Amino acid sequence: MDITGYAFVTGGGGKNGIGKACCLAFAKAGARGLLVADINVEAAKQTADEAKSAAAASASPKFRAEAVYIDVADGNLVQSAVAEMVELFGRIDCCVHSAGVSGGPHGPIVGNNFSDFKRTLDINVNGTYLITNIVSVAMKTQEPEENDATSVQPRFTRGTIVILGSVTSTIAVPGMVQYNTAKHAIIGISKTSAIDNVTHGIRVNCICPSWIDTPLVQQSYDLVPGLEQPLLDGIPMGRLGTPEEVADAALFLSGPKSSFITGCGLIIDGGMILGAKT
Ligand SMILES: NC(=O)c1ccc[n+]([C@@H]2O[C@H](COP(=O)([O-])OP(=O)(O)OC[C@H]3O[C@@H](n4cnc5c(N)ncnc54)[C@H](O)[C@@H]3O)[C@@H](O)[C@H]2O)c1
Repeated sequence: MDITGYAFVTGGGGKNGIGKACCLAFAKAGARGLLVADINVEAAKQTADEAKSAAAASASPKFRAEAVYIDVADGNLVQSAVAEMVELFGRIDCCVHSAGVSGGPHGPIVGNNFSDFKRTLDINVNGTYLITNIVSVAMKTQEPEENDATSVQPRFTRGTIVILGSVTSTIAVPGMVQYNTAKHAIIGISKTSAIDNVTHGIRVNCICPSWIDTPLVQQSYDLVPGLEQPLLDGIPMGRLGTPEEVADAALFLSGPKSSFITGCGLIIDGGMILGAKT
C-alpha cells in the first residue's frame, strides 16, 4: 500500500473494530510509527502491541507503536493526544478517525430521548470536528513530503485524514435518528475540511461502510431486537463486511495511490444502497 509515514488512529482499541484493523494494516503496510488513541487506553495498548508484532512479522523492525488516552469529545484531550503524536514521531502523515458510538437506545423519533441524541452528537460530530480541526492545524505546520518517488506526477503531501462515516451519511436507517444525524454531519465536516485544506496539501476523505462485523453492530443487534435478519436481507452480497475490508479502503485513501482524491464519501456496503436484494 506504500504507506511510509506515521499514523494516528482514534478508536483503535475496539476488539475486532475498524480502528484496530486500520492500526494492524498500517503496521503491515510499512508505516514507520503508530499512535493508537482510545477512551479505552488498556485496549489501545493491546492494539499497539499487536501492531508491533504485525510489523515485525512484515519485516518492519524499526516500527514503533504507542497508545494514548483520548476522549474525542474533549478538546483538551484531543489537543494533548495530537501533541503527543508530534512529540513522539515529529509529524502526523496519516490520521484515521474511527472513534465513535452507535448512539443507542434506538427507536422511532416519537419516543426518542433528547439527551441520548445530544450525547451521540457530542462524541460522533463534535469529536470528528475536534480531530479534523486539531490534526489539520498540526499537519499544516509540517513540511510536505514526497510520498511516491516512482510516480510520473510528483505526489507531495502534508498529510491525509480519513474519517469514518457510514452509509447512514447518505441514507436513513429507521429508528436511528441520532446516528443518522451524526453521520450526515460527519460528511459535511469531511467535505468542507477537504476544500479548506487543499491549499495546505492535506487530503480529507470519508469512508461510508454499511454493516461491518464489529462489536458496534453486535451492540445494535442487542439494542434493536430482530434487527439481524432484515439487516442481512438488505445487503445484496448477503453478508456483513469485515473490518479488514474497511481498513483496506482507509489505507488506500491514506496513501499515494489516491493522490487525486479528496472530499469523497467512499461507500463500502456490499451493494446495500443500490436497492433490494435479488
Ligand atoms: N461497524 C459498523 O457496521 C460500522 C458501519 C459504518 C460505520 N461505522 C463507524 O466506524 C467507526 C468504528 O466503528 P467500529 O464498528 O469499529 O466500533 P467499535 O466499537 O469496535 O470501535 C469504536 C472505538 O471507539 C472508542 N470510543 C468510543 N467513544 C470514544 C470517545 N469518546 N473517545 C475516544 N474513543 C472512543 C471505543 O472505545 C472503541 O475502541 C465508528 O465511527 C462507526 O460509527 C461502523
